[in-house]
Amino acid sequence: MKKPLIAPSVLASDFANLQSEVEMLNRSTADWIHVDIMDGIFVPNISFGIPVTEAINRHAQKPLDVHLMIEKPENYVKAFHEAGAASLTVHYEACPHLHRNIQQIKELGCKAGVALNPHTKVDLLADIIQDIDIVLVMSVNPGFGGQKFIEKTYDKVKELKEMINLAGSNTLIEIDGGVNQNNAKALIDAGADVLVAGSFVFKSNDPVSTISDLKNV
Ligand code: DX5
Ligand code: ZN
Repeated sequence: MKKPLIAPSVLASDFANLQSEVEMLNRSTADWIHVDIMDGIFVPNISFGIPVTEAINRHAQKPLDVHLMIEKPENYVKAFHEAGAASLTVHYEACPHLHRNIQQIKELGCKAGVALNPHTKVDLLADIIQDIDIVLVMSVNPGFGGQKFIEKTYDKVKELKEMINLAGSNTLIEIDGGVNQNNAKALIDAGADVLVAGSFVFKSNDPVSTISDLKNV
């Protein structure tokens, strides 16, 4: 079976020991480091911002996958790029000028991602799918770690995979929220390429082997 890319979310890490958490990810088989940015407006929670992203990047030996759960992302993508983001994902629901936002991110030299909330239909991306490097399918409502996986996600991933194949695009499908050992295989079978996991990795007794288990599920 095709192996997924694994992107542990540092939102669930011990912020008082961020350096050693990032060093643990460096030693692990994680592919990307998922960085969740929340503004308290687009989502009902505040996480951290540009200086913390820059601090993570100072220790990270893997690409930073920055998930912007913020309004007006166009005002901040340059700063997150300078802070070390390799990919920048904006929310469909926060971007009335999504095509422009994607071009802006690509011009910076970053991979461009678009995130879909659980209620947002996949086919809204049909006219733009070839321009997108990553579609991030939210499998919980954005804003918090540790929530329960929404089962409807499987159908959305299958539909998205068909759309991507039909367009002949290389767009990656990333799943974010409630990912664990019990749903990882079905998600990969449905077409997922990248699995984000926060609590499942960082709250486990041995995060390095949990990451490897997810990769080899
Ligand atoms: C939720 C964030 C997720 C979160 C996932 O708004 O986008 O990346 O960290 O955490 P878990 O894996 O605990 O659901
Ligand atoms: Zn995320």
